[in-house]
Amino acid sequence: MQITIVNDYDELSQAAAAHVMRVLRDRPTPQVVLPTGNTPLGMYHLLRTEWQAGRTDLSQARFFALDELWPLPEGHPATFAATLRRLLIDHGPVGHFDHLRSHAADPEVECHRYAEALGGGIDLAVVGIGRNGHIGYNEPRTDMRAPCQKVELTAQSRLSAKAYFPDLEPPEFGLTIGMGLIMAARSVLLLASGAEKAEVLAQAVTGPVTPSLPASLLQEHPGLIIVADRSAASLLPSA
Ligand code: PGA
Repeated sequence: MQITIVNDYDELSQAAAAHVMRVLRDRPTPQVVLPTGNTPLGMYHLLRTEWQAGRTDLSQARFFALDELWPLPEGHPATFAATLRRLLIDHGPVGHFDHLRSHAADPEVECHRYAEALGGGIDLAVVGIGRNGHIGYNEPRTDMRAPCQKVELTAQSRLSAKAYFPDLEPPEFGLTIGMGLIMAARSVLLLASGAEKAEVLAQAVTGPVTPSLPASLLQEHPGLIIVADRSAASLLPSA
């Protein structure tokens, strides 16, 4: 595990964007998993800027959304697929973009399809950490070996889904790349910003590995890189 502690959110965004661009440069057709949420917004801004200035090339990149709300109509602006399109994908030519279908009739079949689509393996999974320790929508005490799964969302996760869409009645379920595939990724970049993540980050890094805190499983990932700002890292032993 490599932990980089930076001063603030701007530095976190810079470190995250630089890491993603390194992976994009180093591999011929990199498969990269992308999260939504507040934490990566600055990273996406920098990636767009670099891309538009011609300093990075996404035309060979294969992007996959980390998770999705279910059910929601296809193309609904609150879907994570639509969010990632707005933040990055629709700003120029990318090699490939796939996501879990928020409108899938059968979520189990959809999860199977998505896990197959990721069959070549994940080069880099960029993830945030929920205040309850979830990674993607792998909520506490759900299946920690699944390649991809449908999960009942916690009240907190449903509330977060409303953040940008106050009128949304958030769906009860999420579809997510499971910890099984995340643990098999070549590398995982975990981003944590702000004091409200300090306790959960410290538990995830120094506490027991337990399905009650899905992020704790990442302790056993040989290619885990954590980038945290000072506030989020304040309870880590090294901070
Ligand atoms: P956040 O969400 O980036 O909005 O804090 C992270 C998460 O819940 O996984």
